[in-house]
Amino acid sequence: MTDLRPSLLTIESIEVVYHGVIGALRGVSLAVPRHSIAALLGANGAGKSTTLKAASGLLAGERGEVIKGRIAYDGEDIAGLPPHLLVQRGLAQVLEGRRCFASLSVEENLLIGGHLRHRTATQLRRALDLIYTRFPRLPLIRRSAAGLASGGEQQMIAIGRALMSEPRMVLLDEPSMGLAPIVVSDIFDAVRALNQQDGVTFLLAEQNATQALRIADHGHVLENGRVLSHGTSSALMARDDIKRFYLGESASGRASFIDPHRVRVFEPFSLTNPGLAQPVPAQPGLH
Ligand SMILES: Nc1ncnc2c1ncn2[C@@H]1O[C@H](COP(=O)(O)OP(=O)(O)OP(=O)(O)O)[C@@H](O)[C@H]1O
Ligand SMILES: [Mg+2]
Repeated sequence: MTDLRPSLLTIESIEVVYHGVIGALRGVSLAVPRHSIAALLGANGAGKSTTLKAASGLLAGERGEVIKGRIAYDGEDIAGLPPHLLVQRGLAQVLEGRRCFASLSVEENLLIGGHLRHRTATQLRRALDLIYTRFPRLPLIRRSAAGLASGGEQQMIAIGRALMSEPRMVLLDEPSMGLAPIVVSDIFDAVRALNQQDGVTFLLAEQNATQALRIADHGHVLENGRVLSHGTSSALMARDDIKRFYLGESASGRASFIDPHRVRVFEPFSLTNPGLAQPVPAQPGLH
């Protein structure tokens, strides 16, 4: 079904290079409708983080550059705008790797996020209340050093810090990384509540396609810096190729993430057949 909600973020045919020569994205286009969750899926090195950094003004710090295409947020061309100006316009980002200030308390870490956008004490309190509602674990440890928090709690702090600026949209990079499935479910449930109950729009980069499509309205599959496929979450989840390559559901178990056109594909290791993995013939690609 066509989504008629106007897009809050639109990325049109962008090409990104690092260090002037290393191509990372080749003609990536996607649109994130207002008040939706869009998933950006793909294996290691597919270009998920690069797409998010391009949209959040963070490429320059890594000597990356958008050399072609257009990125618009709320109808405005945002190419070249630095991250703090984007945060002031309501576009916040949570980087891969949940960076926290280890020696500051959990609450101090959160409050830092409020200073990127000029906020009154009332606005800061309101944002803090929302974070503590969506992540009920955080008020229990608010005075502890963030460095003592678990990986899941640190991810909640990182998302919370972005929410302190009361953004309309959050670019969220790989929140599931290195976390136990139960913790991942809690975090994704909170993201869904922030979307459905608080109206925050998300672009969510994830290797964990199963969890991401569970909460997303629609998804884009990236491979080698290109969008290979896109559609509603339910349409993507129903597709055999997506199940096989990204959801770990096929008759023979989980297939490799690796592009069969580029390299050999190996059948998954099987407990009933614990021999060496064998190459299998190339599979049709995802289109
Ligand atoms: N700072 C950088 N300098 C040079 N090349 C980079 C840099 N960051 C990323 N790349 C390259 O750009 C491509 C896309 O990387 P990116 O980090 O966007 O992928 P990803 O989909 O986020 O992968 P992962 O799932 O491992 O986080 C890769 O080939 C990567 O090596
Ligand atoms: Mg990444």
